[in-house]
Amino acid sequence: MSATLRTETGAAHAALLGVGAYRPRRVVPNAEVVDAIDSSDEWIQQRSGIKTRRFAEDDETVVSMSVAAAQDALTAAGIDARQIDCVIVATVSHLLQTPSAATAIAHELGTDQAAAFDISAACAGFCHGVALANDMVRAGSAGYALVIGVERLSDITDPTDRGTAFIFADGAGAVVVGPSETPGIGPVVWGSDGEHYDHIRTPDWRDILESGEKKMPCLSMKGNEVFRWASYGMAKVAQQALDRAGITADQLDCFVPHQANNRITDAMARSLKLPDTVKIARDIIDAGNTSAASVPMALQRMIDDGDAKSGDTALLIAFGAGLAYAAQVVVVP
Ligand SMILES: CC(C)(COP(=O)(O)OP(=O)(O)OC[C@H]1O[C@@H](n2cnc3c(N)ncnc32)[C@H](O)[C@@H]1OP(=O)(O)O)[C@@H](O)C(=O)NCCC(=O)NCCS
Repeated sequence: MSATLRTETGAAHAALLGVGAYRPRRVVPNAEVVDAIDSSDEWIQQRSGIKTRRFAEDDETVVSMSVAAAQDALTAAGIDARQIDCVIVATVSHLLQTPSAATAIAHELGTDQAAAFDISAACAGFCHGVALANDMVRAGSAGYALVIGVERLSDITDPTDRGTAFIFADGAGAVVVGPSETPGIGPVVWGSDGEHYDHIRTPDWRDILESGEKKMPCLSMKGNEVFRWASYGMAKVAQQALDRAGITADQLDCFVPHQANNRITDAMARSLKLPDTVKIARDIIDAGNTSAASVPMALQRMIDDGDAKSGDTALLIAFGAGLAYAAQVVVVP
């Protein structure tokens, strides 16, 4: 008779235990980006909501920004880095094909023993990471996990591209996920829509080499198509996340969508029929779209501003290149 493997189980429930963020020092107002794209401060504010964003300076790397955000989250959680069993990093702007940013970040944090890997789900990456961490803690493969969303999109954004130059920006956000006596992370609703694989992308390196141009592989985006896809499709995903968590719009305290465009946020809030009592994240106004970092940065801002209080329910949803998306309801730590 063949042997039966032993399996393990973890905590009954998992929750976010702490949130942290790092915002690069350099504030970049619309005035600084408009000339290269024949635009105006007024147009950018009206069409996206963005007034300023932050661009990282040389010493503010994917690794250093992540470490700062993670240390912030660890302090908020009251957890020592050595207690972390897994470091999950969501990013599309770590410029090495391999190794991952996560192993360097784990090392800098002093948590060398932790499993560490990057995930590529673009702007949706952080919510994918929270879903993985939730399952790891409950399955017993990690006692505590660190989920980081980090981007230096200024490295891969063409300052002369009208469709992206004013949108993308830099920063990092992080959460500690660990065991909890009550459910702190609702079921994830996630998926992909690969039919629109080309809507947001970087070019194939081989095409760049063939063209002979010495340039970075910058992001391109079919803004209109993505706008329609997100405005109409993502509200349904958000509603499913509420339903799966057993939360009605009336019971929700905070809405923290991917900071892609204030008009997409407004469209989702209208579709979800969110009452005025629900606080809505508007970090995009002075953070721009920081892709994988946007949801944890926006959540941290709401906590700092007193808009999200410990014990509040918050609906997270993120979407982007792939097209990939993920949403879940969490309890604010
Ligand atoms: C990028 C985005 C803000 C553009 O806004 P939009 O309203 O769709 O703009 P359009 O492309 O329809 O262009 C409208 C007009 O503005 C002009 N325009 C486009 N970009 C411009 C710019 N940067 N500055 C000034 N004018 C601009 C266009 O030429 C067009 O002019 P016309 O009406 O005379 O032809 C919007 O499409 C968007 O936010 N898309 C989704 C982005 C997103 O969610 N990404 C998430 C994944 S990361």
